[in-house]
Amino acid sequence: MICEGASVLLVDEAGKKFVVRAAKRMLEVGGLGVIDGAVLCTSSFGDELTVGQRRLLLLKPSVRDLLGIIERKAQIIIPKDSFLVPMSLDLSSGSKVLEGGVGSGAMTIVLLRAIAPGGRVVSYDYRKDHSEVARKNIGLSELQGCWELRLEDICTAHLEKDFDAAMIDIPNPWDAIENIKTALRVGGHLCCYVPNMNQLESLVRKMRDARFAEVHSFETIQREMIVHNGGVRPSFDMLGHTGYLTFGRKMSKL
Ligand SMILES: C[S@@+](CC[C@H](N)C(=O)[O-])C[C@H]1O[C@@H](n2cnc3c(N)ncnc32)[C@H](O)[C@@H]1O
Repeated sequence: MICEGASVLLVDEAGKKFVVRAAKRMLEVGGLGVIDGAVLCTSSFGDELTVGQRRLLLLKPSVRDLLGIIERKAQIIIPKDSFLVPMSLDLSSGSKVLEGGVGSGAMTIVLLRAIAPGGRVVSYDYRKDHSEVARKNIGLSELQGCWELRLEDICTAHLEKDFDAAMIDIPNPWDAIENIKTALRVGGHLCCYVPNMNQLESLVRKMRDARFAEVHSFETIQREMIVHNGGVRPSFDMLGHTGYLTFGRKMSKL
């Protein structure tokens, strides 16, 4: 049975997706209309619900579903890039992660999925409007219990120590490097995401100056394949550019 408060993905016959938090009242679902929450809360994942002329499959949303649906107040890191981060930062259940620039909370959801249960993501953002959208989006992941938000500048904030990893998506990550280094444990991993090459140069120079080890940068290029019987080719609509991921590791106490 679907519990009150659970996030529910509704998928129509054309594959269009909607998300709603279950509650026993009439629920307004953007782009879909009003659904009867009392009926939703007596259904189970895998059941179907009829709304007007539409038949909707009820599913638990995957991380990819959520990232495709959430409100975007600030530009998000898309799955092509964000899904590479948790393994590269060596995250697992119980890890403690520092995040700079929560934005819409898309990256935060990916980090939370990697460290739950038992871990923590501590996110810094100085914009209240962005953080409020992030809070709503992260609520849909049902992982908000592992998340702490600080409304402060990550470059100057007094940070806790012994983070296992840090993930930074702010326009000037080089200004945060020294502060983040004090917060990472020895052996801890850092990832920074920047969209422009001039930012990448400033960032890598600063990471080397701060004696981060194993510093390397890359961009991921993904080509969708269009598969027809007897005809397989890459899509003509390739996403040309998103951003560059840079990784490094703190390998000394200082
Ligand atoms: C591009 S958004 C992050 C998007 C996020 N990674 C996601 O996937 O949804 C950048 C965010 O960094 C925040 N920001 C910029 N500089 C910051 C700083 N020095 N300290 C804290 N937050 C900062 C901005 O307010 C903005 O919300």
